[in-house]
Amino acid sequence: MDKEAIIDLINNNIKEGIHVIDSEGTTLLYNSTMADFEGMTPDAVLNKQLLDVLPSLQGKSTLIKVLETGKSITMNRQTYFNKDGKQISTVNSTWPIKKHGKVIGAVEIAKDITIIEKTVNNLLSSTETIQKSKENKGYKNTKYTLDDILGNSPQILNAKQIANMASKSDSSVLIIGESGTGKEIFAQSIHNASNRKNKPFIAENCAAMPESLLEGLLFGTTKGGFTGAVNRAGLLEQANGGTLLLDEINSMPLGLQAKLLRVLQESKFRPIGSTKEIEVDVRIIAITNKEPLKLIEDGMLREDLFFRLSVVNLYIPPLKSREGDLTILKQHFIKILENKLNKTISRIDNKVIEFFYKYPWPGNVRELQHVLEGALNIVENNGIIGLEHLPYYMKRHFHNVSKTSEPSHLNKINTLNILENDNLSLSEHLEQIEKKLIKEAMKKEEYNITKSAKSLGITRQNLQYKLKKFSI
Ligand SMILES: Nc1ncnc2c1ncn2[C@@H]1O[C@H](COP(=O)(O)OP(=O)(O)OP(=O)(O)O)[C@@H](O)[C@H]1O
Ligand SMILES: [Mg+2]
Repeated sequence: MDKEAIIDLINNNIKEGIHVIDSEGTTLLYNSTMADFEGMTPDAVLNKQLLDVLPSLQGKSTLIKVLETGKSITMNRQTYFNKDGKQISTVNSTWPIKKHGKVIGAVEIAKDITIIEKTVNNLLSSTETIQKSKENKGYKNTKYTLDDILGNSPQILNAKQIANMASKSDSSVLIIGESGTGKEIFAQSIHNASNRKNKPFIAENCAAMPESLLEGLLFGTTKGGFTGAVNRAGLLEQANGGTLLLDEINSMPLGLQAKLLRVLQESKFRPIGSTKEIEVDVRIIAITNKEPLKLIEDGMLREDLFFRLSVVNLYIPPLKSREGDLTILKQHFIKILENKLNKTISRIDNKVIEFFYKYPWPGNVRELQHVLEGALNIVENNGIIGLEHLPYYMKRHFHNVSKTSEPSHLNKINTLNILENDNLSLSEHLEQIEKKLIKEAMKKEEYNITKSAKSLGITRQNLQYKLKKFSI
C-alpha cells in the first residue's frame, strides 16, 4: 500500500484535525486541519519536537500526557485562536499507540465544534433575555387562572377541582390530554393558584431541541465546563421558588429523563462542568399528549420518572366527551371574537350547531376556537354562520357524516313535504314516497336497474314491477 497517498489524504481532506507523535514527542503526522486549528503550518510542526515548536504546551499537552500515562483522554474541549485571530472550539480525543504493551506514540483527533457551541450559546442567551424580561415584569408571564377554564361538564369540573387541590402542595403534576384540550392553561392555573404565584413560571417544550442543548438549558453551564462556556443559570435555577413546566415530556431523551428524576428526588443537581451541586426549590409540572402507559411500553418514557411525576395525575378529557362544554365555549369564543374583529353575528345556523355536536373535534378546544375565528372572518356583519363559513376539511366531514348517518335515498327527499299534502290518503302518501325514492335511486345509479334495485334493497323483478306500476 502507498503510505504516502494515505498520509496525503489525511493531510488534505479530513475535516478532523489529526496529530501523531512518537515516543520521543516528535511529530510524525500533522494534517492541515490541525494546523489550521492551532494557527500553524504543517511544515513548522512535522518531524519536530512538539514542545520545541509549541513551548506554551509545556505541562498542558494532552499528547505528552497520554504518552506518559498510557491512558487515553477523550472528549476534551479546547479553544484555539487561529491565524486570523478567530476563536475555535474543538473536542479532542487522544489515545496512546501501543505495541506489545509499550507506548510507542500518541494520536490526537480534534473536531471543530465552534458552530455547535455558538448555537448553544445563542440559544441560552436568548432564553436568558426572555427570562430577564419576564422577571422585569414581576413574573407576570402567565395569563390563566382556574376561573378562565370554562365548561360545566362533570369531567372539566372534576379536573378543576383536582387542579385546585394540587395547587395547595408542591407535588409534581403530570397533565395528560389530547392536543388543544387546555393542558397549558391548567398548568398556568395551578401555578397561579399556588403560593408560588409571585415567583417565576417557566415553560419549556422538550420536543423542540436536541439532547445536548436541552441539557445545558435545563441544568445550566459553568465557566470552564467546556470551552466558551460561561456561567449561565439553567431553567431549573431560574425557576427557583416557582414552577417549571416541561411540555411534551415524552420527547425528552431517556438520559435526561434519568437526570431529571434525580433532581425530583433530591432537589439538587450539578450544572454542566460544575463541581458544586445547586439546591433548588422548583415545582415540576409535566405534560404529555400521549397515553403515558403506552409511552412506557414503547420505551419513550421512563417508568420511574412517570411514577415520580404522577404524584398528581390530571387528565383533561377531549372536547367531544365533555357534554355541555361545547355550548359554553362556543358562546365564549364568539363573544371574544366579535370584540376582536369588531363584528357581530346574528346566530349560528342550526345545521352547523347539529354538526358541531357530531363532529369529533380532534384538535379540541383550540380547533373550535380557530374554526369560529375563521367563520367570523368571512361572515358578513350581522350575518348567520352557515356551513359555507366552515373550513374545507369540515365541510367534507359534514358531507361524509350526512351520507353515512342517513340512507342515501332518503337524504334528498323531503318526506315531510309530501306528507303535508293532506288531501292524500295514507296509501297514496306512501305511494308518492315510494315513487320518489325509486326515481332518486334510478337517477343516482344512472338508470341501471340491477344497481338501483340493490341500493333500494329490493329484487330486480320487484323494481321492474314497480317501475311499470308507477309508469316511471
Ligand atoms: N376550558 C377552556 N376554557 C377556555 N379556553 C380554553 C379551554 N381549554 C382550552 N382553551 C383554549 O384553547 C387553546 C388551547 O389551550 P392549551 O394551549 O392550553 O392546549 P394544550 O392542551 O396545551 O394543547 P397542545 O397539546 O396542542 O399544546 C387556548 O387558546 C386556550 O385558551
Ligand atoms: Mg400545550
